[in-house]
Amino acid sequence: MTSDVIVDLAALGEEFTRDPYRVYAELRTQGPVHRIRMPEGAEAWLVVGYEAGRAALADGRLSKEWRNAAPGLGVRPVSAGITMLSSDAPDHTRLRKLVTRAFTPRRVDELAPRVQEMTDGFVDAMLAAPDRRADLVEALSFPLPITVICELIGVPALDQDAFRHWSNISLSAPLLEDRLAASRSTNGYLKRLLEDKRAQPGDDLISALIHTADQEGGDRLSQNELLGMAWVLLVAGHETTVNLISNGMLALLRHPDQLAALRADFDGLIDNAVEEMLRYDGPVETPTYRFTREPVDIAGTLVPGGGDLVLVALADADRDPARYPEPDRFDIRRDARGHVAFGHGIHYCLGAPLARLEARIAVRTLLDRCPDLALDIDPAALPWRTGMMIRGPQRLPVRW
Ligand code: HEM
Repeated sequence: MTSDVIVDLAALGEEFTRDPYRVYAELRTQGPVHRIRMPEGAEAWLVVGYEAGRAALADGRLSKEWRNAAPGLGVRPVSAGITMLSSDAPDHTRLRKLVTRAFTPRRVDELAPRVQEMTDGFVDAMLAAPDRRADLVEALSFPLPITVICELIGVPALDQDAFRHWSNISLSAPLLEDRLAASRSTNGYLKRLLEDKRAQPGDDLISALIHTADQEGGDRLSQNELLGMAWVLLVAGHETTVNLISNGMLALLRHPDQLAALRADFDGLIDNAVEEMLRYDGPVETPTYRFTREPVDIAGTLVPGGGDLVLVALADADRDPARYPEPDRFDIRRDARGHVAFGHGIHYCLGAPLARLEARIAVRTLLDRCPDLALDIDPAALPWRTGMMIRGPQRLPVRW
């Protein structure tokens, strides 16, 4: 079956940004694959539901390389350089292997004391507000992940505000020109950062990667791949975890019974609670783009070859009642394992252990230090990030 009908998600405007779940669920009742117009304007094939979504994520017939994208799609790479997220095997295998060791659960667990120290610092500063109010995004969700990833890879001097501004625009702005201009700024900035690092290397991941790239005859990492690596670690390392902390805290604050249960047995429930936060309202609504190389049958729909764009709605896969009973219920005791919030297949999130560690520490510290933390906004009035890729509030006003 092929589909001639285009579902115009752009026409739904803010309604879709605020609650994409309802829209995806409605599509799911009609079938797993739909031709859509994205809010950004481009046309794509959207895969909904758990089984079809998970299968598409691991489908080797779909390429992540931009050279396989059809011209005129209306989407362009926003990343600097070449990244593992935009490459297929064998390049993907080589790039991922270069950094895998820095992100194993054991290596990441060693960071716990430092992540705790940083979290304490941010929460101290937040609690110093005389009116006992703060924007949680500004106070903790944003600064924690970016500071951790900068320290981990060795770029403590990053201009966080400028970088956040460009990276937000390049992933979420409605206009392609705006996204491209912002990614040019990021690229120029990262190039200068890498030059500084080359002049003054340290005992860190980026210096080691620069050394690999600079080795005589060493073709294991091109300059473009080095730039891409810095970009993907910095952007993936902060655009997502910020929303795990925000969306997770928002879910807890909106479900006082769940919050009380977590407070009562933090050690027993926190690991599962973080998985449920990822399942219930994960930071990545649809992951990075996939392109058809040849006509492919996706869950019974024949999608043309030649570089059509395929999007997988992770947000819907994890709310599929066929996989999770009563999927719209936030329940920190349910078995949320198997969710696809971190993707699936060879591109499964490299930073998952780090994201989980940061979320555990951030949530524990907030609950310990602010026994009466509450939302300071009507949830219906929250301003959400636009675009289909990243899901999270732009601000999260809280009081205590
Ligand atoms: C809650 C936080 C996070 C979420 C929800 C998340 C989600 C994802 C998802 C869905 C993918 C797969 C994309 C696709 O298949 O198109 C991915 C890949 C990736 N993530 Fe994360 N991520 C998070 C945090 C992090 C962190 C902290 C890092 C830091 C290093 C990171 C680094 C990466 C990288 C490098 C990839 C590409 C892996 C590959 O292509 O092999 N992520 N992430």
